[in-house]
Amino acid sequence: MSIIFNQDSKTFHLTNKKTSYIFKILDNGNLVHLYYGPSLPNKDNFDYLFRKKFSGHLVTREDDLQFSFDYLKSEYPTFGQTDYREGAYQVKNKNGSKVSELKYVSHEIFKGKNQLLNGLLPATYVENDNEATSLNLLMRDEVLGMDVVLKYTIYEEINAITRSVYFSNNSEETINLERALSMSLDLDGYDYEMINLNGAWARERQMEVSKLHHGDQSIFSTRGDSSTEFNPFICLKKPMATETTGDVLGFSLIYSSNFLGSVNVNLYNKTRVMMGINPFTFKWNLNPGDSFQTPEAVMVYSQEGLNGMSQTFHELYRKRLARGEYRDADRPVLLNNWEGTYFDFNEEKILSMATDAKELGAELFVLDDGWFGKRNDDKSSLGDWFVNYDKLENGIKGLSNKIEAMGLKFGLWFEPEMVSPISELFEVHPDWIVGVTDRVLSIDRYQYVLDFTRTEVVDYIFNMMSSIISESKISYIKWDLNRSISEAYSTKLATDQQGEFYHRYILGVYDLYNRLTTKYPQVLFESCASGGLRFDPAMLYYAPQTWTSDDTDTVERLKIQYGTSLVYPLSSMGAHVSAVPNHQVYRITPLETRANTAFFGVLGYELDPTKLTDDEKMRIKKQIQLYKEHREVFQYGTFYRLVSPYDGDGNITSWMCVSENKETAIMGIYQVLSRPNPNELIVKLAGLNDEFEYTISNRNYTLSGRELKSAGLPFHLTINNEIDVKTMMYSVLNNMEYTPVLGIGDYSSELIILRREK
Ligand code: DGJ
Repeated sequence: MSIIFNQDSKTFHLTNKKTSYIFKILDNGNLVHLYYGPSLPNKDNFDYLFRKKFSGHLVTREDDLQFSFDYLKSEYPTFGQTDYREGAYQVKNKNGSKVSELKYVSHEIFKGKNQLLNGLLPATYVENDNEATSLNLLMRDEVLGMDVVLKYTIYEEINAITRSVYFSNNSEETINLERALSMSLDLDGYDYEMINLNGAWARERQMEVSKLHHGDQSIFSTRGDSSTEFNPFICLKKPMATETTGDVLGFSLIYSSNFLGSVNVNLYNKTRVMMGINPFTFKWNLNPGDSFQTPEAVMVYSQEGLNGMSQTFHELYRKRLARGEYRDADRPVLLNNWEGTYFDFNEEKILSMATDAKELGAELFVLDDGWFGKRNDDKSSLGDWFVNYDKLENGIKGLSNKIEAMGLKFGLWFEPEMVSPISELFEVHPDWIVGVTDRVLSIDRYQYVLDFTRTEVVDYIFNMMSSIISESKISYIKWDLNRSISEAYSTKLATDQQGEFYHRYILGVYDLYNRLTTKYPQVLFESCASGGLRFDPAMLYYAPQTWTSDDTDTVERLKIQYGTSLVYPLSSMGAHVSAVPNHQVYRITPLETRANTAFFGVLGYELDPTKLTDDEKMRIKKQIQLYKEHREVFQYGTFYRLVSPYDGDGNITSWMCVSENKETAIMGIYQVLSRPNPNELIVKLAGLNDEFEYTISNRNYTLSGRELKSAGLPFHLTINNEIDVKTMMYSVLNNMEYTPVLGIGDYSSELIILRREK
C-alpha cells in the first residue's frame, strides 16, 4: 500500500521507492504539511516534523497561542485567518466575506486512479489499478456549506504524485469561487533556484534560472492558451544540483489555458509553490448543488538532478498521459509542404513533392495551410473547411487517394478554433466569435477566435472536419492555433458567468479533440499552435506529438529542444529539417547538423524536395534510413542532457538517448561557432551500462560504459589524426556529403552511435 494512514497520529504517508510525501490532520481538523522528499521508512507518527513557533507578534488561534499558518506548513492554504499569503483557493460568501477554513471530514484510500470529469478533463491515468494508489480527502467549510475534496495519486513505479481539487456547494446560496488552484506545497527555507521556461514565438521554452528571494516569483498565462510566454512548469532546484545529481522538484500543470504558477517566500523563510488556473481571469459561480473540478498538477521529486526529474515527466507523460493507437507506435517520418510552398501549390505540385518525399524515405505527406475555401494567403477562409477545387481539382479525397497509392500516408492541416473575417462562415455567423460587442476587436493574423464555449459552434466545426476526414484517406491531422484570445467574452454566457469564459472555452476545445480522437482513433494528431501557444501536457492527452517551434534553425532549436526536454518526452516534439537559408533567422547551416538536431524528436522535413540537388537527396535518404534504424531509441529511449546551450557561452550542446536494454545509445554534440586553437573537450556520457563494452562510431576503439561515464569521450574540435581533414573541409565548403565531425567549421556537429560490443 503506497498510501498509509495512521489512525492514532492522523498522518498520511504517500510513498514509493523514491519519495515520501507526509501530512497530518491536526486536532482542530486543519491539515498541516510535514515532508516532501526522498523516501522514508514509515513510522506511526512523524510529529517531530511538526514544529510550531514562539514569537512575538504572531497572529495565532485564540485557543493555541503558538498556532499560526504564517509559520506552519499548510497542506491546502485557506485565506483570512493566520496565514497572510495568498491561499490556494478563495471564495466569496453571500455576506461578502472571503474568509474560509477547511476541516477534515473523512477520507478514502483506493488502488488505481479515477478520471477527471469522466475523462473530459485531461489527466494522467493507470492501465492497471496496481500502478498507483489514490487518496480522496474530504474537507469542509461548515460556515459556507462547501465541500472540498483534495485528490492525490502516487504512482508505484513512476516517481510522481498528482493532485487536483474538487469543490462542491452543499448550501442553499451561491458561492463565488474566485480562486481554485490545483495544488500548493509549503517548504522549509528558500535555498532554491527556480527554473522557468519562457519565450515568445520562434524562441519558445528558453530556460531561465533565478535564485529565490522574499516575495513572489510567478509564471502565468492570461492569453487563453498555455502560451509561449511561460510554459506551465516550475522547477525548484538546490543550487548545487546539476543535470545528474542533487535535489530537484518539478511542478507541471495539465492544462491548456490561463494558468498561474507562483512561488512565494514569506517572512519566516517558508517557500510556497502553487499551481492552477490563473485567478486573474477566473471566477466560477457555484450555485447550490454545483461542483467544480480543477485541472491536475504533477509533482516530481528527484535526487538525481534535472535529468532525473525530466525522465520521470517523460515516462509519465509518454505512457500514462498520452493515449491512443500512436502512444507507443513508431511515429512516421513526415514531409510537410509549408515552408516548401506556403500557399502557392496545386495538385500537380503536391504530387510531385510527394513523389520525391517517398523517394527520400518519408512515410507521411502533410498538406499544410491553404487547401480550403479561397485561402491563397493568410487573410481569408478560416472556418470554411471545404476544398478549394481551383487548387486541388480532385479534392482532398482524390489527392489523398493518389498519395496513398504511392505508398505514403496522408495528413492534413486544420485550424479549427478560428474564423477569418473574410469567410463564408463569418458571413453567416458573425455572432459566433469571441468578443465584447461594444468595442473594436483586436486581430492577429487577420483572424478571430470562434466561441468554443458554445456547443453549436463546436458541433459545426466537428461536422465540417468530419466530412473531410470521413471521405478521404487521412492518417494525420495537424491542429493549429495561430492567435491568443483578446476581448474575452461570450455573448451566450450570463453577465455573472463571464469569469467562467476561459475555462469553458478550453473545455470546448477538449470536447472537440475528444470527439475527433474517439471517432477517428486511427488518426495521429499533432497539436500545433505556431509552435508554442499550446505546448502543454494536456494536449498530449489527445495528440501525442506537438509542433515544437516554427523556428527550425538548428542553432535556435538546440536551446528550444533542450528547454522543452525538461518536461516533455522526445516522442512529443515535432522536429523538422528545413531548407537554408533558414526562413526565420536566415542562417545557413550544414544539412547534417540540421538533421543531427532534428533526430532528437519526431523527425520530419519541411522543404520542397523537388528543389534538392541529387547530392542533397542522397544525404537525406541516408538520414531517414539512419533515423528509421534507430527510431525506437530516438522516440522512446531514455534521454539525458549532457552539455547545456544555456551554460557558459552556449557554444556547445550535447545530449543522448539510451535504449531500454542499454545496448544502443546515440549522442548528439553540436558546436555553434568554431574557434581558433581550441582546447580539447571531454564529455561524460550517461545512462550506459557500466559493464558493457561499447563500439563508438567514427572511432576505432571501444570503451566500457563505466569509462564513458567516468572518464568521458574526448573531442578535439580541430584537426586531428583520425579524420581526413582536407576532404572534410572541401565537403563543408561545398555543402557536400561528409561525415560530420565536431569542430570543423561553424555549426558543426557529430552524431555518435554506441553499440554494445557482441
Ligand atoms: C503556424 C504553424 O506553426 C506552421 O507550421 C504552419 O502550419 C502555419 N501556421 C500555417 O499557417
